[in-house]
Amino acid sequence: MAIIDAYGRHIQYLRVSVTDQCNFRCSYCMPAGNTTWFSEKEILSYDEMLRMIRIAVKAGITKIRITGGEPLVRKDLVDFIAEIKKIPGIRDLSMTTNGSLLSQYAWQLKRAGLDRVNISLDTLCEDRFAKITGRNMFRQVLMGIESAEQAGFAPIKLNVVVMDRINTDELVDFARISFEKPYEIRFIEYMQMNSDCKNLLFSAMGIKEILNQAGWGNLIEQPYSDGPASVFRFSKAQGSIGFIAAATEHFCSQCNRIRLTADGRLKPCLLSNAEFDIKKKMRTGTTDFDLENQLRRSIWQKSAQYDLDRKEIYTRGMFQTGG
Ligand code: GTP
Ligand code: 5AD
Ligand code: SF4
Repeated sequence: MAIIDAYGRHIQYLRVSVTDQCNFRCSYCMPAGNTTWFSEKEILSYDEMLRMIRIAVKAGITKIRITGGEPLVRKDLVDFIAEIKKIPGIRDLSMTTNGSLLSQYAWQLKRAGLDRVNISLDTLCEDRFAKITGRNMFRQVLMGIESAEQAGFAPIKLNVVVMDRINTDELVDFARISFEKPYEIRFIEYMQMNSDCKNLLFSAMGIKEILNQAGWGNLIEQPYSDGPASVFRFSKAQGSIGFIAAATEHFCSQCNRIRLTADGRLKPCLLSNAEFDIKKKMRTGTTDFDLENQLRRSIWQKSAQYDLDRKEIYTRGMFQTGG
């Protein structure tokens, strides 16, 4: 039984950020300049995370996603995944990754029981990739995607953050991949999380217009989507096209998720600063019963709706929340 929040939404999805650290420096996610990472002591141990996950699954969570920073930079992640897999009641165990380390880990992750991977890729041009991510690892990411496919992950979702005039000339090229591969190409609206970032928003509606004029016929809406993405398909394509209209559409009424941050906070909403410290509780000897209550209270605190127009000053960067 999913946990029901104050607005009748069924919360069955926990996103667990295992680290704030990342080997990339995507401008939309990390502040420019030097980043101060959480210290080792600040980060929850895998045992602490497993304790919270077990409690959450017992309470009704059925879907777990591992996020970062970049999750694969944390040591022993494969063993952690294998431990999560042993928890009865999880129907979907997935990870969001930048793909750069996947050629090394895809098979091990599959063996450990990971069901799915979503991989970030904002451009198909090598030079541009280096500009967006601050790293020269385009080929490693392509190899990572290939390895994920060969290891048997399906469906693979490619997350493309669409940035006005940065990668908007590549929308059709990305959509073409859905004819060649059984992937879901997901166009994500840029979220301006702080005022020193330029607003690079290019709307999902604008993207759809461009794709509908690409000569492949009209996008056909798919009936089911488990989350904020709306999913479409071109009639002759193997794969699909998803849109996450994070800035222009309020999909909050469909919200099904809560987050656990690497530094031990339950965070009911990506776009609100509200968070609840479970690390302190755990480290001062609290009971599972109390932690479950805290989880339920945090879910009860989820707002009906949040949007970027509030111009809130965010206390966390995306890399400290895990998207
Ligand atoms: P699936 O389980 O495959 O549907 O994945 P997902 O969409 O839940 O996870 P993923 O990490 O791939 O999410 C992609 C992006 O969607 C995130 O990095 C965010 O940019 C955005 N996103 C995810 N959840 C939320 C949310 O609750 N609110 C908003 N505004 N954006 C979100
Ligand atoms: N806007 C939209 N998506 C973002 N992500 C991180 N920062 C932003 C942002 N400002 C998402 C992207 C990336 C994932 C790790 O987090 O989907 O692929
Ligand atoms: Fe849920 Fe908050 Fe995202 Fe809305 S913005 S979908 S309430 S996490």
